[in-house]
Amino acid sequence: MTPTPTTEVAMAAAEEEEEETEELKELLVTLPKEKGWRTPFIYKFQGFWSQPKEIQSILSFQKHFKTSESDVVLATIPKSGTTWLKALAFAIINRKRYSNTQNHPLLTSNPHDLVPFIEYEIYANNQVPDLSDFAQPRIFATHIPYHALEESMKKSDTTKIVYLCRNPFDTFISSWLFLKKLRPESLPQFSFEEAFKMYCDGFIGCGPFWEHMLGYYNESLKRPQHVLFLKYEDMKEDIVSNLRVLGGFLGFPFSLEEEREGVIEDIANLCSFDKLKELEVNKSGKAAMAFLNNSNFENNYLFRKGQVGDWVNHFNPSMVNKLSQLMEDKFQGSGLSFKLH
Ligand code: A3P
Repeated sequence: MTPTPTTEVAMAAAEEEEEETEELKELLVTLPKEKGWRTPFIYKFQGFWSQPKEIQSILSFQKHFKTSESDVVLATIPKSGTTWLKALAFAIINRKRYSNTQNHPLLTSNPHDLVPFIEYEIYANNQVPDLSDFAQPRIFATHIPYHALEESMKKSDTTKIVYLCRNPFDTFISSWLFLKKLRPESLPQFSFEEAFKMYCDGFIGCGPFWEHMLGYYNESLKRPQHVLFLKYEDMKEDIVSNLRVLGGFLGFPFSLEEEREGVIEDIANLCSFDKLKELEVNKSGKAAMAFLNNSNFENNYLFRKGQVGDWVNHFNPSMVNKLSQLMEDKFQGSGLSFKLH
């Protein structure tokens, strides 16, 4: 008998459940749920949509994480340029250690293997690692919304949080094309139109996207020394000025001598889309992220087009109207605006 979509979802959900702790199972039954993008379901947990394994990691992070004086946290909603931000922050912070670009770790490691995700790696799979001997400053990445970060991380005056934001039009297209590749074959596929509706309803990992963006944006206005809010489109337009700001914010400002020697341009080139995409590790490798064990993830999925405005090749006029209207409603009065081209 051929399985129907409903039985496929039930079978996949049962497989997922095998890896869930009792505590998580008890929690999940109390949470609102919707169809997931790469898991059978996503759940509304602490006000945002999340996959079961992420919820488990986030709970562990919230319970066990202790901030350290010089922590750096790179925050994004998925598909906003996380890989790029990880490469840039790693290169800026470690530029004295790896001044010889011939043997720079970014040439042989995917950025995700140099800057771990809190929820997909550090606290994944019920791990509670000792983070005290991490190289200083510790650099972490996360997709967790600001309000759900561990308390000491939020309160710290010395933790530096960098948020990279991308316009929702391109972020949606990038998410759809990426997540389609990661959706297990055991789950029924869904259409582009359905995905768009789910995105606009807020039903996507870490969504609703507007709450994620506004959470970090508002904090960056309140405490600019604590949260730096960057935009993907601005970085594409003028990477040098943005790297100057980023270096200063992270406590690794570029000296006049470095400016003269073109160190900022060297970092921009090393981390550029064209450079990273062509590296062997990013063409044929698989990131070692604990979360991705047994998944069909490949590093090359992280480097698609890297452009601003590719959405025009995918959106129809009614989608343009719908997302424009939604953004107007959600961002009105916030001061947050986006370049779409
Ligand atoms: P597209 O799918 O629009 O090409 P994330 O790293 O958060 O998963 O985001 C992935 C998006 O960033 C993809 O966008 C990818 O191509 C783009 N990207 C990856 N590396 C980049 C880089 N070095 N510079 C600019 N964009 C990059």
